[in-house]
Amino acid sequence: MNPHLDRLQSYPFQKLTALLSGSMPNPEYNPIALFIGEPKHPTPEFIKKALTDNLDGLASYPLTAGTEALRMAIAEWISFRYMAPVDPLTEVIPVTGSREALFAFAQAIIDGDKPDPVVVCPNPFYQIYEGAALLARATPHFLNSMPEHRYQCDFSQLPASVWQRTQLIYVCSPGNPTGAVMSLTDWRRLFALSDQYGFAIASDECYSEIHFDETNPPLGALQAAHKLGRAGYPRLVVFSSLSKRSNVPGMRSGFVAGDAAILKKYLLYRTYHGCAMSLPVQAASVSAWRDEAHVIENRRLYKLKMDAALAILQPVCDVERPDAAFYLWLPTTIDDTLFARRLLIEKNVSVLPGSYLARDSSGVNPGRNRVRIALVASTAECVEAARRIRDFIQSL
Ligand SMILES: Cc1ncc(COP(=O)(O)O)c(C=O)c1O
Repeated sequence: MNPHLDRLQSYPFQKLTALLSGSMPNPEYNPIALFIGEPKHPTPEFIKKALTDNLDGLASYPLTAGTEALRMAIAEWISFRYMAPVDPLTEVIPVTGSREALFAFAQAIIDGDKPDPVVVCPNPFYQIYEGAALLARATPHFLNSMPEHRYQCDFSQLPASVWQRTQLIYVCSPGNPTGAVMSLTDWRRLFALSDQYGFAIASDECYSEIHFDETNPPLGALQAAHKLGRAGYPRLVVFSSLSKRSNVPGMRSGFVAGDAAILKKYLLYRTYHGCAMSLPVQAASVSAWRDEAHVIENRRLYKLKMDAALAILQPVCDVERPDAAFYLWLPTTIDDTLFARRLLIEKNVSVLPGSYLARDSSGVNPGRNRVRIALVASTAECVEAARRIRDFIQSL
C-alpha cells in the first residue's frame, strides 16, 4: 500500500478517546460534550422539504460540475455576501462538504516532479490540511498563529528557501480553533507572497457565517481580492460549506470558488475522483444558499451562548472573545491533556486538548496549555458546562 499512509496521524478525536479511556466521569453530573465542532441546532424544515421534494433525482447520475441552478445560487450568494463577482460557469464548483474538497485540492495542485514540494499550514489547524499534504507527497510546514499576532499566521516565520518550494498554502478564516479573521492587510501580504513565489492559496471559510455582529461579517478572500483590485482571483480558491451555516453537517454540501484556470483542472480531477453531489442534495442546497433568515437565527443562538459562556469564564481565566466561529480557545494553567482528563473525571464535560490540534514548530506547540471548547450544545447545556469549567478552574 501507499507508504505515505503511515505518515498520517490519528485524528484529534481518536487521541481524545485514547486519553479519556478508563476515566470514570463524575456520575453526579450529566455528560456534556463540547469537544467536537458538530452543529447541533436543528436543520431548517424548508431544507429537509427541498431534499425530500426532489428524491426523484436519485434516478440520475449527477454531473461533477453541479446543476446550473446550484452554481447560479452559489454565485449569487457570493455576490450578495462578498460583493465579489464570480462566473457561475467557470469560477464555482459545488463540492460534497469542504473537507473532501480541501483534501482533494492538494492532490490536484501539487506537482511532484518539482523538487521537495511544500504545503504551508496554519498552526493550530484543521488536520485535513496536513494529511492532504502528506498524501500529495509534499512536506507540510507550519506557521504558528499566536495571540501576540492576533492569532494570524506569522508569514515571516518561513525563510525564502521554503517559500520558493511552496506550491500551496492553506489558511482558515475565521480560524478553527482560534476564531481569528484575516484582515485586508493580512490578505494583501499573502497575495504579495503568492505573486512572488507562485503558490496557490486554499482559503477555508467554512465558519464565515458564524459571527457576532450582523453589520460586520468576516472578510472573505474573494472579497479581499476584489477590494484590492485583483482581477480573476489569480491562484486563489475559497472553500465554503453549508454544514455550519445551515446546520446540515450530514448533507455534505459546500462549494469552491475562485481562479478559473485552477478550477478547470480541479474539475477534471474531481470527475475522476467521483465526488459529484446527488441531485436531491443539490436542490436542498439551492434552497439553503437562497435563504438568510435561518442563518441570522443560527447566529443569534451562537451569540447567546458565546456571551453567556464568556460572562461566566472571563472572571476566572484569560479566555478572549473570538472574532467569529463557535469555539473558545481557552488557556489552561495546567497541561491541556491533564485539564481535559480531569475536567471529564471531575465535572463530566469533554473538551479537546489544544496540543492535539497543533504541531511543534519553531520550538513551540501553539496548542499547548489551551483547550478548544465548541459551543454547539444547547444554550442551557453550554451555560451549565461553562459554570462547571469555572468551578473546575477555581479548584486548581
Ligand atoms: C476548519 C474546518 N474546515 C473544514 C471543515 C469541514 O466541514 P464540512 O466538510 O462539513 O464542510 C471543518 C469541520 O469541522 C472545519 O473545522
